[in-house]
Amino acid sequence: MAIDASILVLNGPNLNMLGVREPHIYGATTLDDLEALCQERAEQLGLSIDFRQSNHEGELVSWIQESRTDHDGIVINAGAYTHTSIAILDALTLSERPVIEVHLSNIYKRETFRHHSYISAVAQGVICGFGPQGYLMALDAMAQIVGRD
Ligand code: DQA
Repeated sequence: MAIDASILVLNGPNLNMLGVREPHIYGATTLDDLEALCQERAEQLGLSIDFRQSNHEGELVSWIQESRTDHDGIVINAGAYTHTSIAILDALTLSERPVIEVHLSNIYKRETFRHHSYISAVAQGVICGFGPQGYLMALDAMAQIVGRD
């Protein structure tokens, strides 16, 4: 089945350190491993993905702005910017693209400052606590969303 849709999979700060960063919370999977898993699932679903990571808020904002014309949906793990960035919220709003928010860890089981997400306000859905599997769940859901068009 060819859906022929392009999905931006966006990763925020410190996610380039997956595999070495607090493995008891984030696991042993590296960002490269995660990208390979996502590519494999995307191929099965007939999606093309543009998998990116940045430690810089402005760069994430610019990429989200570009998705308005370049992509059909956004899967985003904004890392700590989830809890702080109105700029990313605004960019997601203006993108007018379906958004799925992902976190590797269950942010509601952790410190209270992680319980609030600016992104959830514009997300179609939120997946957290399932590790890398959460990204694959998000791609499955995104295939449904963009396939409905
Ligand atoms: C995270 C959770 C955030 O609170 C944290 O700042 C991250 C990763 C997650 O994937 O579980 O960087 O988004």
